[in-house]
Amino acid sequence: LTHKKSSKKSSNTVPVLWKCSMCTFDNHETMVYCEMCGVFRESFVKSGKDVSIKESVNGISNNSGTSALSNSDSTKMPAKTSTTNFDGDSERKYASTSHDKVNSTQLASVGSSSSTGKKKQPVIFDNNVPIERTTQLNADHFQLKEDQGSSRASSSAQNKGSMETLSSDISQLSIERNNVNVAQPLPEEYKPEGWMLADQESGVLSQLNLAIVGHVDSGKSTLSGRLLHLLGKISKRDMHKNEKEAKEKGKGSFAYAWAMDESTEERARGITMTVAVAYLETKKYRVVLLDSPGHKDFVPNLISGATQADAAILVVDASTGSFESGMDGEGGKSVGQTKEHAQLIRSFGVEQLIVAVNKMDAIGYSKDRLEFIKVRLGSFLRSCNFRDSAVTWIPLSAVENQNLIKSPSDARFTSWYQGSCLLDAIDSLQLPSRDVSKPLILPICDVIKSQSTGQLAAFGKLETGAIRNGSKVLVLPCEEVATVKTIERDSSSCSIARAGDNVAVILQGIDGSRIIPGGILCHPGFPVPVANYLELKIRVLDIAIPILIGYQVEFHIHHVKEAARVTKIVALLDKTGKPSKTAPRFLKSKQNAVVQVTLDQAVCVEEFSKCRALGRAFLRSSGSTIAVGIVTKIMRQDQH
Ligand code: GTP
Ligand code: MG
Repeated sequence: LTHKKSSKKSSNTVPVLWKCSMCTFDNHETMVYCEMCGVFRESFVKSGKDVSIKESVNGISNNSGTSALSNSDSTKMPAKTSTTNFDGDSERKYASTSHDKVNSTQLASVGSSSSTGKKKQPVIFDNNVPIERTTQLNADHFQLKEDQGSSRASSSAQNKGSMETLSSDISQLSIERNNVNVAQPLPEEYKPEGWMLADQESGVLSQLNLAIVGHVDSGKSTLSGRLLHLLGKISKRDMHKNEKEAKEKGKGSFAYAWAMDESTEERARGITMTVAVAYLETKKYRVVLLDSPGHKDFVPNLISGATQADAAILVVDASTGSFESGMDGEGGKSVGQTKEHAQLIRSFGVEQLIVAVNKMDAIGYSKDRLEFIKVRLGSFLRSCNFRDSAVTWIPLSAVENQNLIKSPSDARFTSWYQGSCLLDAIDSLQLPSRDVSKPLILPICDVIKSQSTGQLAAFGKLETGAIRNGSKVLVLPCEEVATVKTIERDSSSCSIARAGDNVAVILQGIDGSRIIPGGILCHPGFPVPVANYLELKIRVLDIAIPILIGYQVEFHIHHVKEAARVTKIVALLDKTGKPSKTAPRFLKSKQNAVVQVTLDQAVCVEEFSKCRALGRAFLRSSGSTIAVGIVTKIMRQDQH
């Protein structure tokens, strides 16, 4: 108990005053509905006190999520392949521009079939052979190998009898673990070791994972590239090269964006397709920038990449018509990605948002336009349960370098603006509390293997716990134990990584083909369940077609996307989270419900109440996000 509490002691944490009956999220006392899932606080619904309380909640007046998500047309479920596919377009990109000379023939992703020549983040192994990281955040490529699937199936059969019943602290759920293909641990309390809890290494800044999201062409990559350049992360030579090549290709305005958009296709199309990762330092943080694609076809890549975010910058294009497209889609007929991304990022658990109102130069640095945007977008953000006090508005121009790392200089801007610049706003973000004292959980978003040395690096953010050189880790879903050889943060080695850190873990004692993106590194004594029968509580977004039993969906969870079917609608939930007595035959927009899903292949998953990062799920269909939810129960096949 002491350990559980200790992770919540951070001065940044919101005082815990009531726990949501639906998703267990700890809400501030002033909230009358759950910030996480929108369910009303039971006592207030019953007592009718909600009106007075609502007024005191900083203008947050309702939870009528108005988002209808767009109908993207080309997000397809991948054809099942017998190998993990690492083709080029979906590679995760690393925007650090100082390591682009690595010979790509030395490098290989696990199962890699091609290379695009993108700049990638090298990992320096012990023998100083630099290894580029060829990660993919495109969930299409996180399909498990068929042989791995079957090995799980067979071992799950062996474990049929080994069912563990735990008593959840909410709603007395009986949680039965299924398909955990490793020795079941006794349900004893985990005791962190002293080195895990030690104070931060002196002189090392805390790591902040910052997602850059927003509608297509709002200027996310330009802003990211410009920030890197201003902070000395892009050499003069590289910048000059980008400028020259962009101009030659008639894409002069994309010179800064090219620091992030590195593949030939991205550059030719002028859009980001996969999440690019770059590193910079502020006064307070080592920031991991996750520059996301804005185009609606690449929302799955955003989900897989930006799910690691601690905070986000939502970039909006202030220019006439463009802000409106970001809100209402092209032609005002659908929903733009300004809205979809804001909703998704909130569902990832991100509470703090900087809204970068970009392209102020295009509207003559108009204060009135900024105010108009603040009112319209502000009310939408409230409907997504972003607190007003956790949203910072920063007007800027990435192209004209106004208000990025210092106060603006343009007289049209300075005449009315005295607020913070973007860099100061980043430094004002608070780190979320980190669960260092829990057993290790590191969802793997990327795996690379050095062809020359055979060494393996798994990339990802530690969600809980800590590791150090020599730690034994259980690799799932393959159920093999490996040893941490070294750890790297932004290409330099470090001896310990703790919850919140985004690192490369160089492993030994395991075959490269056994580690896959979408897998997990965890504590050998505390394995994460691997399962394909799940019960979820979901909130249905705006959908055109009702959800019926048998409905085929794409199931997204941490770095995995898996084909799934809705196999049961268990109950509707009312505003208090209370289940209906009879199950509805179908679900429609804005309903909350309990459903069961069957995944084609088992994935590493955890109940939300035990690990938020492994228990947040998204259901998508025909290119749209149709529901956001949380995993409430992991089931055996015969319970389904
Ligand atoms: P996706 O990744 O495809 O969603 O686009 P993005 O949001 O990364 O936009 P990107 O950085 O690629 O920029 C799109 C276009 O907007 C480019 O032509 C940029 O030069 C332009 N742009 C970006 N920032 C500004 C700005 O501050 N002012 C003006 N006028 N144009 C800008
Ligand atoms: Mg971009």
